[in-house]
Amino acid sequence: MLQTNLVPSLDPNPLPAPYWLLKALLIATFTFHIVAMNLMLGGGVVALLTRWRAKDREVSKRMFHDIAKKIPILLPATISLGIAPLLFVQVLYGQFFYTSSILMAWPWFLVLVLLTVAYYGFYYVSYESGQDTRRAGAVMYLSVLLVFLIGFLFTNNITLSQTPARWGAKYFASAGGWHLNLSEPTLIPRYLHFFVAAVAVGGLLLVFMAWANWKRDRVYAGQLLSFGGKTFLYATMTQFVVGIVFLFTLPLDKRMLFMGSDPVATGLFLVGVVGGLASIFLMSHAVQQENIRLAGIGVPAITACVIVAMSIMRDILRDAYLKPYYDPSKIPVQTQTSVLALFLGLFVCGVVVWVVMLWRYGMFDGKAAAAPKSPAGGAQPE
Ligand code: HEM
Repeated sequence: MLQTNLVPSLDPNPLPAPYWLLKALLIATFTFHIVAMNLMLGGGVVALLTRWRAKDREVSKRMFHDIAKKIPILLPATISLGIAPLLFVQVLYGQFFYTSSILMAWPWFLVLVLLTVAYYGFYYVSYESGQDTRRAGAVMYLSVLLVFLIGFLFTNNITLSQTPARWGAKYFASAGGWHLNLSEPTLIPRYLHFFVAAVAVGGLLLVFMAWANWKRDRVYAGQLLSFGGKTFLYATMTQFVVGIVFLFTLPLDKRMLFMGSDPVATGLFLVGVVGGLASIFLMSHAVQQENIRLAGIGVPAITACVIVAMSIMRDILRDAYLKPYYDPSKIPVQTQTSVLALFLGLFVCGVVVWVVMLWRYGMFDGKAAAAPKSPAGGAQPE
């Protein structure tokens, strides 16, 4: 078949570790990447939403400033945590990922440019937002838009990488490397699914900030909980609509994986649906009762389970798309035990260092955010 022949041949080097282990590491590191991305992009969107919050301008300013200070930390976290899945994707799916990256070479290269400009923008806003100038708001809009575009390019690349049947028509129409995957029916719902999830997790960022301020500044913490909790609620409700549209744009055989034909995929789908409903119910209770423990531990714990389930589902879906072209049992494996042990040791140390770093930096409390230059509203620390 023509489309089968278009898939480059497998890298002759054997895999340096068992397939299942590389796969598990791909899913784990992708999950870390996507959580950091959600906090960063969602945080940016929520910061912009605070500007529309007409209730109390001073509190809105303060929230905007406090979030803006965190984004220049979350963006490099997203990038660093993206490198690990990039390596695993190249090892496991290189022949697909490289081809799609070449087909969309110029937009793909643009990711670096967009990233650099967005990064500058976020830094600018983090220094200027204390003044709450209009320019800081405009730059925040621009940076969020650029990051939004980067995510869209990623979804183009991933969907193109798993549909080799489209490659030939694109390449022979033009070999200039300007292709996207806009004719893919799942593209927009799939990307919206990521984007809406980011906004919900951005709401959780405010809930964490509320928790960190709970004892020191109860009034402000209550305002953060209310705004963050409601953002989470509305975004997660919207997700049910977006998720259903995404499910129904999938080809029938792929959709059925999550609706009974594959017990693992169906189980994970149920975890997602039940987890989503439970998080809506619990967050609305937590906001009404001002229950910060429920909002700051219970709901994020459920959300983490949903994100892990969705990451595994995403991988099952990729394998279903690539089934006609890819047989993992044929890939030679030659485990390099010493290198693998070294990698796993460093990986665990890296995760521990990250957690300690975030903790010591005071990611969610006021330590990461310098005091605004102009006095902002809300209760003062006790
Ligand atoms: C900073 C802006 C970024 C955003 C908003 C973003 C967003 C996303 C999204 C939405 C996906 C999922 C696409 C899909 O499955 O449809 C994704 C996947 C991915 N991202 Fe990022 N990303 C960003 C930066 C990066 C960077 C800088 C790297 C690498 C250094 C990276 C590495 C990856 C990899 C390797 C995957 C695919 C993993 C897989 O296929 O299993 N990302 N990203």
